[in-house]
Amino acid sequence: MRSPSVQPVAARPRVAVVLAAGKGTRLRSERAKVLHEAGGQPLLGWVLDAARAAGCGRILVVVGHGAEEVRAAFGGASDLVWVEQREQRGTGHALQVALPLVGEAALLLVLSGDAPLVRPATLGALAEAAERGWGAMAIATLDRPGSLGRVLGDGAGGLRTIVEARDASPEELALPTVNAGFYALPAPEIGTWLERLRPDNSQGELYLTDAVTAAARDGRAVALVELAEADEALGVNDRLELARVHALLTARTIRRLALSGATFLAPETIAVGPAVEIGADALVHGGVSLLGRTRIGREVTIHAGCWVRDSEIADGATLHPYSVLDGARVGAGCNVGPFARLRPAAVLEPGARVGNFVEVKKSTLGAGAKANHLAYLGDATVGAGANIGAGVVTCNFDGERKHRTVIGAGAFVGSDTMLVAPVRVGEDATTGAGSVITQDVPDGALAVARSRQRNVPGWSAHRRKK
Ligand code: UD1
Ligand code: CA
Repeated sequence: MRSPSVQPVAARPRVAVVLAAGKGTRLRSERAKVLHEAGGQPLLGWVLDAARAAGCGRILVVVGHGAEEVRAAFGGASDLVWVEQREQRGTGHALQVALPLVGEAALLLVLSGDAPLVRPATLGALAEAAERGWGAMAIATLDRPGSLGRVLGDGAGGLRTIVEARDASPEELALPTVNAGFYALPAPEIGTWLERLRPDNSQGELYLTDAVTAAARDGRAVALVELAEADEALGVNDRLELARVHALLTARTIRRLALSGATFLAPETIAVGPAVEIGADALVHGGVSLLGRTRIGREVTIHAGCWVRDSEIADGATLHPYSVLDGARVGAGCNVGPFARLRPAAVLEPGARVGNFVEVKKSTLGAGAKANHLAYLGDATVGAGANIGAGVVTCNFDGERKHRTVIGAGAFVGSDTMLVAPVRVGEDATTGAGSVITQDVPDGALAVARSRQRNVPGWSAHRRKK
């Protein structure tokens, strides 16, 4: 008769179960722990990405504290199944609550929502080890194992016991091998040991670790899979760990982008989100943040202190220091800043230039157009090659509604022109400096709309005499 310990569970679909109901008391936060951000996205986002990359077609997320908030942050994804654990009675209880929703024989990849460094390759290795035997769990060897559970092996690559640090004897505490908190376990089989859990430990909780230990004791082979990099086991239980994990995740993203040909001059000062793409020979100086769905082309230079979110920057463009871009599109070879602000739907066509203290919102600057100093362009279309003088303002808001300004190709808008929208400045037209333009300017015309200058000869001498 075949022993149940070697019964293969191959070919079962992989279903991830992410335990994310905990409050994270030590973070001292009102927000759900797994929504805290590290490396440019919420902790939970990293875990979901890893599960997807490891081939999990369905992901059960166990939520409790801040469940609504967590669901709202990720709600749209169709591969997620939300499981509510109303009372957090421990990791074993969390899996127990999720199990009925698995619904089919599956290999469960059990993950922690607060351990975002987990890699898809690790999950793959766990799944394969479980498919060869019964179950598997990830372990790491740490110099300072701290509060993590200690793992005692059976001497043959399998598990004997997991003991929580707070329940461990001094000898157990001295063990360097820790439980990383990632498991591959067969469902529904694991249910047998989850049902038998008792809260007889220092926290009065139902420990998943106890269920895995009991299964091993009952002859189910639980393979120990050593992590290639021990850091992967790090979880976030307080703000210091959050900062450490943030640094590691950011370094991981920078490493990936650097190996694909971008230079980061001061990587430890840079923030980069996981979805950012960057082309070869791009150069990123210190203190830069690249966030959200930002896409950067080849040979782009981003100088110190720029903050860029959800923006596209085409090949050869330069962002000069301290420019802020949010939802903007910058064409090839454009120059932006220093100290420029491109707000959502700002579009610069190739070779356009936006200089210091210029704000652009929902406006397009045509190819080679320039707004070099101190201007506001909102709800405007600026034609190719037009020149926007210093201090020009599109007066787009009448207190109730927004209106558009259209500036033709090659137009010259003199310094300090107020363009009271809706208004059109024709192609190749000019406005005199200081004009308040309230009517359309025909193509090729000059518009001057300011009071005429009066000179009083001898005025100074006259005043001194008085
Ligand atoms: C757990 C393991 C420990 C391991 C460590 C790795 C147990 C008992 N201990 O400890 O061996 O070294 O992870 O990081 O499993 N959660 C729920 N519902 C609950 C309780 C927890 O969803 O009722 C979630 C938490 O939100 C968290 C995860 O499960 O995301 C782990 O729980 P946590 O309390 O942080 O366990 P650790 O003490 O870190
Ligand atoms: Ca934890």
